[in-house]
Amino acid sequence: MHGPSNMAQASAPGKCILFGEHAVVYGQPAVAIALDQRITVNINLSKDWRIDGMRFNSSKHPHINAILQRIWENGPPLSIKITGNIPPASGLGSSAALSVATSAALRCARGRQMDGDRWQEGFSASKLNNVYSGPWENKSGSRIIHGTKSVDNDECAILAHAAEAEAQGGKASPLDSSTCSHGGCIVLKGQIDKKLNWLYQRSLHGVDWEVHSVTPNMDNDVWLVIGATGVHAPTSRQVAKLAKLLEDNPDRMAEIETIGIIAKRGLDALLSGDVYAVGRAMSENHLILRNLGLSCPELETLISAAAPTSLGVKLTGAGGGGCMIALTKNPKATSEAIELAGGRTMISQFGSAGLSIENSEDCPLWNVSE
Ligand code: MEV
Repeated sequence: MHGPSNMAQASAPGKCILFGEHAVVYGQPAVAIALDQRITVNINLSKDWRIDGMRFNSSKHPHINAILQRIWENGPPLSIKITGNIPPASGLGSSAALSVATSAALRCARGRQMDGDRWQEGFSASKLNNVYSGPWENKSGSRIIHGTKSVDNDECAILAHAAEAEAQGGKASPLDSSTCSHGGCIVLKGQIDKKLNWLYQRSLHGVDWEVHSVTPNMDNDVWLVIGATGVHAPTSRQVAKLAKLLEDNPDRMAEIETIGIIAKRGLDALLSGDVYAVGRAMSENHLILRNLGLSCPELETLISAAAPTSLGVKLTGAGGGGCMIALTKNPKATSEAIELAGGRTMISQFGSAGLSIENSEDCPLWNVSE
């Protein structure tokens, strides 16, 4: 049986940050987990550039545009369709998930030039495997692999990080992009932590992050309830707001460092399976974010409503609107309390699968070597 012709499809999960948002931009440790909620990107060859049936306007889709420029330059026009259940601009990694899924679908559709087992073309985070990232060349002895085999989680995370950095005025950590690509639980630290599974290093404008994955030691009866305020708060605005505060008051960097200390404590609790200590660290982390002016009345209302039935509550992501998260053993009661206070809720288990290729039957869609 043949699927719909000339298409590739990939999906990626949203994320929530348990500890360390904002401080991670300044090199402090942070922990994020992938959510059950996902974004799916479907690409088809088309007569002209389209997005969700409308004419594609690159300035309205900065993340997609940043990825197209890197991996689809001079490629044939596409019709791009985006579906999913991650609300946009809500701190749940919708833009990183979109960027990761777009990178995966495009790589699938384009394929990858190889020489034996080595990439001849691509974006690699590994310092030992820095590969060529320019236009394709007709190298003798090279071959092209395509479809799922050509897709690489690290590459999708790198491309998504580049897109986030461009959209956030150069200030972006690789936390969202790595979590949405690899799934599970991702930890960023200033140095390699041998207790964790080190994936790669990322650097941007003088800040280095060592990216690790971990398997949290959490009971199956602990859930995350996410409460959406419905207030849109672009990450770029929040990141710029904090940058200005720190520029005007350099002594407040101490609060950023305190977030780092809480994140380390929260990570230890995650690894030892102490859910109560995880919850306490989340709530403490929130108090500092609030003090830095990153919360808002709508978030505070949902957080107060969820607190009595939760182990820990905090804003998640950039703040100023967007979402809060509650760690709870009673997701029904916590979710009802948030809804009664005016929030829309979603429930997620603790860490979901990363990017997935859902259709690559017709790949490659772009015969690059022609
Ligand atoms: C946004 O989800 C997380 C921030 O820390 C920004 C970033 O890490 O790039 C606010």
